[in-house]
Amino acid sequence: MNKEQTLLQPYNKGSLNLKNRVVMAPMTRSRAANAENKPTGELQGEYYKQRASAGLIITEGAQISKQAVGYINTPGIHSEEQIQGWKEVTDKVHEADGKIYIQLWHVGRMSHPDFHNGNLPVAPSAINPNSKSFTSEGLKDTVTPKEMSVEEIKSTVQDFKQAAANAMKADFDGVEIHSSNGYLLHQFFNGTSNQRTDEYGGSIENRAKILFEVIDAIKEVMPEEKIGLRLNPSLHGIFGMTMDEETIPTFDYIIKKLNDYNLAYLHLSEPFNDVSDLPFAETEIAKRYRPMYNGTLMINTNFDQESGNTVLKAGNADLVAFGKPYVSNPDLVERFEQGVELTEWDEKTFYTPGKEGYLDYPVKTEREPALK
Ligand SMILES: Cc1cc2nc3c(=O)[nH]c(=O)nc-3n(C[C@H](O)[C@H](O)[C@H](O)COP(=O)(O)O)c2cc1C
Repeated sequence: MNKEQTLLQPYNKGSLNLKNRVVMAPMTRSRAANAENKPTGELQGEYYKQRASAGLIITEGAQISKQAVGYINTPGIHSEEQIQGWKEVTDKVHEADGKIYIQLWHVGRMSHPDFHNGNLPVAPSAINPNSKSFTSEGLKDTVTPKEMSVEEIKSTVQDFKQAAANAMKADFDGVEIHSSNGYLLHQFFNGTSNQRTDEYGGSIENRAKILFEVIDAIKEVMPEEKIGLRLNPSLHGIFGMTMDEETIPTFDYIIKKLNDYNLAYLHLSEPFNDVSDLPFAETEIAKRYRPMYNGTLMINTNFDQESGNTVLKAGNADLVAFGKPYVSNPDLVERFEQGVELTEWDEKTFYTPGKEGYLDYPVKTEREPALK
């Protein structure tokens, strides 16, 4: 393997001018362990800078408002302090010639009253995901959330817009809407989590409505071609999500409609677990959606160097996002390029505070001086 491999080819389309097709997938690392949930140049800035040889970095989910939070020590993008903190991060990545998008996150019902002064988390419908929330007192059972009023939905759309404006202020190259993995927007898509009878529930179009309102609102404060979004159509049995026979048709509708926009990219995940026994699940996401979507398609989940090159060569995606390999291989691109074996990640330090398991994974390749 050498520089000829498809993963290492530059990618130029729309606003994306990427030096290679390797993307760092968004990963919560829970290091914003301060009262303001603010990232810093010293921690998050250094971490993302170490990984700046990726064609594109997508940050961990950053909550768009106080209401949007569901995990301890995750950073926000709704206060002035947080914007300043992120600016330190983007400066470091840009100095190292990297590109960085921020993931805009609202967890909806995947939260706990501990985060809301004892009040309930909000969701499309009052249905408990029967999952766990990671609070300051450890893992706690989720509760039955409060059904959002239409007014609350409208103000949440505005929160996404404000968070995108904040991201531009912090000098991000773009934003990724987190409409995936069982969080708020995804909760609207599935009939099992959305049983509303108003304009946001019932039909496929109604269940997808909030997503398009979010995109339209964000477009008012930043260029459309710098907006990406993430979907995980076959998520089932984790993060409180349950598929039904309307789930895949809902994603088909959303993805076809996204062709009306000129987005930076559509980021899709292959199934997180084995769904081959579910009659209504799609087991091959890139293959199904490549022909339906005209723009840049990024694919994720369980890829390695070989399968990443294969999916690109087959024309089933344009970019590949790597998650866990990026936890433990800051020089993932150079390792692909120079044929250096990968370092294993340690799950025990995925979410622990501080530098351990965060800034101390080794670089084992020759790198550009800006990355040192
Ligand atoms: C520690 C960790 C944190 C994650 N946090 C997020 C997140 O904040 N937002 C998100 O969309 N996905 C998140 N994910 C999912 C990853 O982006 C990715 O989809 C998943 O790890 C599968 O890709 P991989 O097989 O390359 O690791 C997280 C995954 C891990 C391992």
